[in-house]
Parts: sequence; C-alpha cells; structure tokens
Amino acid sequence: MRAEIAVLPGDGIGPEVTAAAVSVLRTVARRHGHDFTFTEHDIGGIAIDRHGDPLPAATLRACQQADAVLLGAVGGPKWSDPNAKIRPEQGLLALRRGLGLFANLRPVRPHPAALNASPIKPHLLTGVDIMVVRELTGGIYFGDKTRDERGASDLCSYSVTEIERVVRSAFRLARQRRGYLVSVDKANVLETSRLWRDVTARIGREEFADVKLEHVLVDAMAMHLLSRPREYDVIVTENMFGDILTDEASMLAGSLGLLPSASLGDGRVGLYEPIHGSAPDIAGKGIANPYAAILSCAMLLRHSLGLDEEADCIERAVDGALNAQVFTNDLAAGGRGVSTQAAAQAVIEQLNEHCYVAELRD
Ligand code: IPM
Ligand code: MN
Repeated sequence: MRAEIAVLPGDGIGPEVTAAAVSVLRTVARRHGHDFTFTEHDIGGIAIDRHGDPLPAATLRACQQADAVLLGAVGGPKWSDPNAKIRPEQGLLALRRGLGLFANLRPVRPHPAALNASPIKPHLLTGVDIMVVRELTGGIYFGDKTRDERGASDLCSYSVTEIERVVRSAFRLARQRRGYLVSVDKANVLETSRLWRDVTARIGREEFADVKLEHVLVDAMAMHLLSRPREYDVIVTENMFGDILTDEASMLAGSLGLLPSASLGDGRVGLYEPIHGSAPDIAGKGIANPYAAILSCAMLLRHSLGLDEEADCIERAVDGALNAQVFTNDLAAGGRGVSTQAAAQAVIEQLNEHCYVAELRD
C-alpha cells in the first residue's frame, strides 16, 4: 500500500518522539512491503517563529491532502507569555477543527511490566482496559473569549449535532468492546451537560439499545478512575473533561509517555499524537519516552490505513520492549532509563524478530 503521511514534529520533545516513531513506521513499511512517504511541516511555536502563524496554511493544506497526520507536541516557555496574542496551542486546536476531527480516542491499558511506575496500587490496575472518547472540536475550548480590566469569560456551548456525532462514535466502539458506555458530564450544574445527557440517552435508546449506558458526574468520575478503574470500558465526555480525565488516567498506565491517541472525524484524514505535551524540561536531551508516539502510529495504521495486522505488530513490539524492561527515565526506577533512540531501537528489534512478513499487498 502507498500512503502519504504528514509529520508535524512541533516543539520540545515533539521532534524527538516523532523521529523515533517514523523510524518504526519505516521498519513496518519495509517488512510488510508498503510504500510510506513522510513529509514534515511546521506547527506550534516553531511555526510562529518561522511563519508568524501556529498553523500555516501550507501545513493545513498538506494535512488535508495526506492519508494521515502524525504529530509530536506543541508549546513551550518561549511562547507562553500569558498576554501573547498568538500561542502554539492555537495551531493544534485549529488543525483539529480544520480537519473536522471531533472524536479523540485515548486508550488506557496499563502494561503489566510497568505497573510499578504507577502511583496506584498494582492490584487495582491489572485488567484495566479503558477507551476514553473525548469530544475534540467544541465546548469551552472553542467558545468566544473575552477579557477586560474587570474580568474574563470563556463561553461553553454545544450543539445537538456536535454531541450526537461523538456519542455515536463512542457507542459504536462500546458495541465492539464490552457493550458498556459511561457518559461523563456535570449535569447537576451545567446546561451544556444537561443537553449532553439528554442527547446521549436518546441516541442510546433509539440506536444502541444493546449497549448499557450510564451517566456519571465528572467529579465522581475523577475519583472512580483511581478507585475502581477496572469497571470501565468506553467513556465518552466533552472536550475539557476529556482533557483532564485522560491526564489523570495516564497515571494508571504509569506515565503520560505511554498514552497514544487518534483523532477522527467523518473525513478521510486522521490525526495521531501522543497525549503528552512538549515537556520543555527534558527537550533536546534524547531521553523522552517515544512509546506513546510509536503506539500512536499503531492507531494510524489501524484507523487511517486499515492495516490491522501491522498495527498489532507495533503494539506487540512495544509490549515486548516493555517486557524486556526497556524503560526511559519516566518508567525506570531511580531515573536510570535508556535514551529515546534506544527505546525505539528495541521496538524495531522486536518487530524484526517477532513480526512475520505478510504477503506483499498492493
Ligand atoms: C492535549 C493537550 C492539548 C489540549 C493542548 C496542547 C491544547 O493538552 O492534546 O491533551 O488541551 O487538547
Ligand atoms: Mn491534555
């Protein structure tokens, strides 16, 4: 198969983890007879520096024309003046919106070999397998913002259509998994949440009667995620709640550096990125954990290119590397981890040793 992959390294550790991920994708392409081409484009702080725009038109166009987009991270202290008019994060938000990527899939599956890296007791973690579906192009992130001497405001609004489409994606996933969906909101306080709850209940009743649906308030969910994570399967929630709950959920897996994500819409192109940020404190040192970016490539192969077998290969290879205790600093006891490149190399060796070459496809 031929595929054009747009690579947006971005800022901080972004370039390091995307380089590692691309080296894994190249290995997969070679072993499975695919022809992947990679083109790099600027986004975030580096795009502000070079083009005065966190999402240059050329970057958006390249992403729209690609088969899939792989992104590192955006942001950093250099661009984080609170009074700045242009910020790196705006580039990422505009890209998600520009590509119509309303459903952000964030799987959380603690790895048995990394349980010690989690601050949560191991017996609560075995068997945890959660898929968070975060709404990605609406809510308070995208509402009108105001600011004057007396105060500031951020508008949170959701249309029925915006809720319906992301909730349907979550129900479909729940149907393929354990048939259990939890919708998270703050319906005791917020009007948008009351609408969210009504729409979700109706879609469940009318279209997914076979899926068990529950509604949980976000503050309670923040607690349940740590006290009984094994009970959950698919969780669907609005943009900001999803952002916060998935950083929390990453602690189940032991490190933010292990969680991949896929952002999907109705269109053809998907965006794949680790859920972690640009980690300016360790940028440029070659010690960032590349597994989240590498696992994002597995999601890319599965969701954008339909290459399930190859996606499984990458996931098994990362499992193999973790089983072999190939840990970066965020996972290693005493901070004596391996380099980003060494971790990627371990994944590549696992692919070379254990992943059989499928028949050539066109
Ligand atoms: C994420 C990040 C972004 C978000 C930032 C960088 C805008 O935290 O992908 O979770 O809040 O969506
Ligand atoms: Mn986040």
